[in-house]
Amino acid sequence: MSDFQTVARATEIEPGEMRQVRVGRKRIAIINVEGEFFAIDDTCTHEEASLSEGDLFGDIVECPLHGAAFNVRTGEVEAFPAVVPVETYQVRIVDDEIQVAT
Ligand code: FES
Repeated sequence: MSDFQTVARATEIEPGEMRQVRVGRKRIAIINVEGEFFAIDDTCTHEEASLSEGDLFGDIVECPLHGAAFNVRTGEVEAFPAVVPVETYQVRIVDDEIQVAT
């Protein structure tokens, strides 16, 4: 069974914004796409840059270091140089709390 943990308040992350949170030893990016929240590994699969420091274009996050792009819904690579998808995590909102299952 998934273990959901509260990582932030929903009102703290505006639509179009991303934020890094830590769950245990994992660095996870929480992403607000027009009011819908997603969670992916915050570490780029190319050379470990922080994706939450990159740019968000709709549901695509672009790495700040070399421009690889990932779909925040699926984790799939949308642009090179990355070739390995990022992990995605289940997200739920309980009251105003963003909860992530790891
Ligand atoms: S570290 Fe992300 S594209 Fe190179």
